[in-house]
Amino acid sequence: MDAIEALVTRKSSAKLIAPAPGKEDLNIMMQAAIRAPDHCRLRPWRFIVIEGSAREKLGRIFEDALKARDPDASEAMLNKERNKPLRAPMVIIVIAKVEEHPKVPGVEQILSAGAAAQNIMLSAHALGYAGIWRTGKTCFDPKVNAALGASETDQIVGFLYLGTAERTPILLEESIDEYMEIWEG
Ligand SMILES: Cc1cc2nc3c(=O)[nH]c(=O)nc-3n(C[C@H](O)[C@H](O)[C@H](O)COP(=O)(O)O)c2cc1C
Repeated sequence: MDAIEALVTRKSSAKLIAPAPGKEDLNIMMQAAIRAPDHCRLRPWRFIVIEGSAREKLGRIFEDALKARDPDASEAMLNKERNKPLRAPMVIIVIAKVEEHPKVPGVEQILSAGAAAQNIMLSAHALGYAGIWRTGKTCFDPKVNAALGASETDQIVGFLYLGTAERTPILLEESIDEYMEIWEG
């Protein structure tokens, strides 16, 4: 798939099945990730690739974090949280490694990591896979950061659920007119 086709046809898929990207494809996706624009070349990102039973470990991190956030969480809620990483054969956690910098505010470092995340989503799509970028309270929970070995100032920018689309998503036509202004002259 050429680059423009990938850009204009990417669509999220919530129902994901095997296969997930293999080693070679994952390597291409990571190469694409680190091509993201990056002010002052801080490389402000970290990618944790989670597959197989490691998804259960991530599920326990989610569950423990929910328990701490909400001690009254029901068994059903905890169960749902624990099973979230099992919704796809691969989850890539994208973390912005945010540091104090005289020229590059934290928000720019988070934007860079977000651009890296989108490069992963787009390259996965170009390689024939599908996925969905998810966040939620776990992205803003210091306990989750600690469990992932991230500092308190680091920011989880997303959990990228990846695999193969169970059903080919339908692409709706959308007009660009309401978002775009052209100032000329
Ligand atoms: C930063 C970010 C966080 C998101 N978090 C969630 C989420 O937690 N759950 C969810 O269902 N969709 C989430 N989305 C939206 C989906 O990834 C997706 O973009 C949306 O369902 C629209 O589908 P599309 O990408 O095919 O247009 C998030 C998107 C972004 C950019």
